[in-house]
Amino acid sequence: MFCLCSIVYVMLFASSFSLIGLLTVFLLLRQLIKKQKNNRRSNNDNDKYVALFHPYCNAGGGGERVLWCAVRALQNKYDGIKIFIYTGDLEATPKQILDKAERTFNLNLDVKRIKFVYLKKRKWVEAKRYPMFTLLGQSLGSMFLAMEALLKLQPDVFIDTMGYAFTYPIFSYIGGCKIGCYTHYPTISTDMLRRVQNNVNTYNNQGYVAKNPFATWLKIVYYRLFSKIYGMVGRCADTVMVNSTWTENHIISLWDVPYKTHRVYPPCEVAHLKKLQSLASAHEKIIILSVGQFRPEKDHPLQLQAMYELRTLLGKDEALWNRLRLMIVGSCRDEEDRERVKNMQDLAKHLSLENSVEFRVNVSYQELIQCYQIASIGLHAMWNEHFGISVVDCMAAGLIMVANRSGGPLMDIVETSEGSRNGYLALDAYDYARYIATILYNGREYNKKIREAARASVDRFSEVEFENGFLRAISTILDDKEFT
Ligand SMILES: *[C@@H]1O[C@H](CO)[C@@H](O)[C@H](O)[C@H]1NC(C)=O
Ligand SMILES: *[C@@H]1O[C@H](CO)[C@@H](O)[C@H](O)[C@H]1NC(C)=O
Ligand SMILES: *[C@@H]1O[C@H](CO)[C@@H](O)[C@H](O)[C@H]1NC(C)=O
Repeated sequence: MFCLCSIVYVMLFASSFSLIGLLTVFLLLRQLIKKQKNNRRSNNDNDKYVALFHPYCNAGGGGERVLWCAVRALQNKYDGIKIFIYTGDLEATPKQILDKAERTFNLNLDVKRIKFVYLKKRKWVEAKRYPMFTLLGQSLGSMFLAMEALLKLQPDVFIDTMGYAFTYPIFSYIGGCKIGCYTHYPTISTDMLRRVQNNVNTYNNQGYVAKNPFATWLKIVYYRLFSKIYGMVGRCADTVMVNSTWTENHIISLWDVPYKTHRVYPPCEVAHLKKLQSLASAHEKIIILSVGQFRPEKDHPLQLQAMYELRTLLGKDEALWNRLRLMIVGSCRDEEDRERVKNMQDLAKHLSLENSVEFRVNVSYQELIQCYQIASIGLHAMWNEHFGISVVDCMAAGLIMVANRSGGPLMDIVETSEGSRNGYLALDAYDYARYIATILYNGREYNKKIREAARASVDRFSEVEFENGFLRAISTILDDKEFT
């Protein structure tokens, strides 16, 4: 009895001791950061330090377009700030990174006013380091990376543009920063939870977990717990931006701070597509264009079925049918994709559509532009796409879209109420056929109105709109006069 008590006492003592230790380290670090910021001020450096956290800033993808457009917007609006970028791209010099950004995204940046802070511990956030508990591993890893970043540079305002929410408490509580973030995708989503609950086999739900009820239960507990913690760290942000309605819904249900969550669509390159001259009326065929990789979720078989239904619908109007052509444009990534194209060609033959369907694999950008020019109708069949950049592109190029009634096309892109219609939303193959027929029989004036509405509506996704939205959301933390 005595023995047990003493063990408990020792354990209590040890744990409170380590808690006190942790607290001391925390307070010391906080003091250190504060001191360094004060040193700056006493050296007459009164600029606000704004640091953007983007460990993969040299990648040249859509996320990086957001980063660099944000930097440009900040530079254009604010004078008394210094901009820093936390990056893990050790192999690239600042000049190389900036040159690539300007070239890739066609931007002019004030390069002298951008400084880089190189982080050596980016490997801590790589997924392949954590074969098990990947989410948790990466998240804790990002906290270490954040500590490295904070010790190298102490900003006044911290903006995360890659979705590393676990860095916010570090910068907020230890660094005393105001926190802003731009989230493309929640780290965990309710869809992931549902998939485990339904015992589905997917890439992050390995076979043995799906089969074993105990493992499934454990995984659900793990996901639940993780999403609780994700909510706690996310709430440390002072202003939150999300890239679409889909992301907005998820972030609001996870972080539960709707009053500081702003939907700011990412900047899409639509200006040049909007200027394209349509050559459709001069073309002998009426081209229906479908753009997308040959991946299963793009549902190309449905598009063929829609054509099959369309032939039935048009019935006696054989002349019209003979003028129609479905042009399926897409790229193949691997052998599997090529196999899919082959199967689709077989299906087209099977439905006797081989003269009405044309496949174009791996076309160049120039050829794609030509396709946009000669086409008059666009087809999109993916179910629950989070956004649908290909739909936006088609609309910018002046096509009338028939898209799946779900996901981004439904929530963000296509408007179907009479008076402001800019496209059509369909549910199944018959629906698609019906809407294509409707467009074919619409008056010329009415179609022109839809086309113009579509082209005007994509301005919501332009660089200008992005910059306005970004500055509006960030002004809540940047216009704040007091320094922390
Ligand atoms: C938001 O980001 C996700 C993940 O990168 C992407 O799938 C989605 O298309 C983006 N939404 C928009 C509006 O670009
Ligand atoms: C298309 O391009 C990909 C990647 O560039 C390549 O792997 C594939 O072989 C190409 N497919 C065809 C049919 O040319
Ligand atoms: C289109 O969307 C509807 C409603 O969301 C869905 O039931 C249907 O399966 C989708 N169609 C395709 C081809 O994905």
